[in-house]
Amino acid sequence: MLNRFSPASIRRISTTARCCSDKNEPDLSDPKTLALHKLYRPERITPSKRGIDLLKQPGLNKGMAFSLHERQYLGIHGLLPPAFMTEEQQAYRIITKLRQQPDNLAKYIQLDSLQDRNEKLYYRVLCDNVKELMPIVYTPTVGQACQHFGFIYRNPKGLYVTINDNSISKIYQILANWHTENVRAIVITDGERILGLGDLGTYGIGIPVGKLALYVALAGIRPEWCLPVILDVGTDNTELLNDPFYTGLRRKRVRGPEYDSLVDNFMKAATKRFGRDTLIQFEDFGNQNAYRLLDRYKGEYCMFNDDIQGTAAVVVAGLLASTRVTKKKLSQEKIVFLGAGGAATGVAEMCVRQMMDEGLTEEEACGRIYMVDIEGLITTSRIKSLGERHVKFAKDLPDTKNLLEVVRTVKPGALIGASTVAGAFTEEIIREMAKNNPRPIIFALSNPTSKAECTAETAYRCTNGAVLFASGSPFENVELNGKLYKPGQGNNAYIFPGVALGAVLFAEMFIRQNLYSVEYDELINKTYEWPAKDSKHGFPVPVLRRTSMDEE
Ligand code: NAI
Repeated sequence: MLNRFSPASIRRISTTARCCSDKNEPDLSDPKTLALHKLYRPERITPSKRGIDLLKQPGLNKGMAFSLHERQYLGIHGLLPPAFMTEEQQAYRIITKLRQQPDNLAKYIQLDSLQDRNEKLYYRVLCDNVKELMPIVYTPTVGQACQHFGFIYRNPKGLYVTINDNSISKIYQILANWHTENVRAIVITDGERILGLGDLGTYGIGIPVGKLALYVALAGIRPEWCLPVILDVGTDNTELLNDPFYTGLRRKRVRGPEYDSLVDNFMKAATKRFGRDTLIQFEDFGNQNAYRLLDRYKGEYCMFNDDIQGTAAVVVAGLLASTRVTKKKLSQEKIVFLGAGGAATGVAEMCVRQMMDEGLTEEEACGRIYMVDIEGLITTSRIKSLGERHVKFAKDLPDTKNLLEVVRTVKPGALIGASTVAGAFTEEIIREMAKNNPRPIIFALSNPTSKAECTAETAYRCTNGAVLFASGSPFENVELNGKLYKPGQGNNAYIFPGVALGAVLFAEMFIRQNLYSVEYDELINKTYEWPAKDSKHGFPVPVLRRTSMDEE
């Protein structure tokens, strides 16, 4: 068995241990007393790491918070400045310094190196300031970090499995090189669709690292249970292939049977090494693989695809919350999606399930959903070229690539963007939405912020504050005509840590689909008081004590 570097590996030294003689010292010359003494004396356990090695272990290092006794016992006395500092003092020092950084990428780098040095302190700072730091360790800054990963790379985090390691035994060996075998959750990507930034190859490792940081910060999952993994099958991004600092294989992406066998071998090796109930979260896979892999593995392994299933749950919850204001059931709305990839299709399919729960047939529900992809509106004339998931949404309408035209024709109550096309929701389109709906629903879900279909400011301004808005990456509050509008965030971060916690705690073998369909109605009614007409705020106010990350 490999060394376990968890804090628990240094067991507490018994305070009752006798290190100097006292009056009750037993008479050890008596062999019987000596034997009993040997049996019952408190054990001294040698820690697995001591001295400078201990300080270099981020999972064990406490920085200046080691007490004098610990410093002496662990062989680090004199290796640290003589002053003592509590974890709180150190956390204060870190956050103060962080706030002085010139930009978000600098903050990311500072936090990243803190995680390399002192994991406990990193999570202390993150948990205490989760609202402030989530946009740093997660979208949007993590996108910037991935783009510049070659430059900011310092220490490895996570495992790299390449197409050259394509056998169960080779991958098993790599997994066995990880410092613990007690892994309960893996986040894996192949780097092909990193946020809305496209193919970033191995630079995409920042995504599993950031997601797992939220496993710990938002769900309280132990850091040593988490493993970020990147599958390196090459990249089709020529800029990266020519980048001297690129960290991955310099070759075009492998696709087809060889790719599939790598993923297959990884799934087998991971479950062989860590157990069948180890959760595997698929993240930021390209369009042609995301659904395929989900369909292939969902009944076989404990896995889920966050972009498809997580996003769907959060966005449908957001739509149901909006119906409280619009006073219309979801099944009475027409919804237009810009984008028909993993995220949008997952949401559309969950909307269909919700509408069917409300009494529509599948055909009627699909009829209320309009999808526009890079080729334009999904229409019956495109049926031959459509994937099976999209056929049911095809409409008998003229082909068009013009979103404004679609909005004018359909007059939807909700417009949802998961297209990666920044600014695709033009002022004209947003005004058209406001013309047709007293409270239009507009969700600009594409990440990072630079890819959002519209900004919060544009959405509120063009609808005179009437819009029910959410975005994938956070936007600042908007002040308009003396009112404060707080944009919602529609991001799967609101669900994946919870799904992971449930899977890890209950050692689930499979992630059941109905996990994602909670009783929104009851939950929403109990949790929020909806703003009265004259409310100063444009957003619902929670009535229960909040324990989540977005306190008002
Ligand atoms: P994807 O690559 O599977 O799909 C992209 C879709 O956009 C495709 O259907 C494509 O045809 C369409 N598209 C591209 N250019 C277009 C154009 N000019 N006009 C119309 N459609 C166009 O990607 P996926 O996984 O669906 O993600 C899309 C975006 O959604 C990304 O920016 C991602 O960051 C974001 N996303 C947000 C989440 C959240 O929690 N807020 C979760 C998952 C994804």
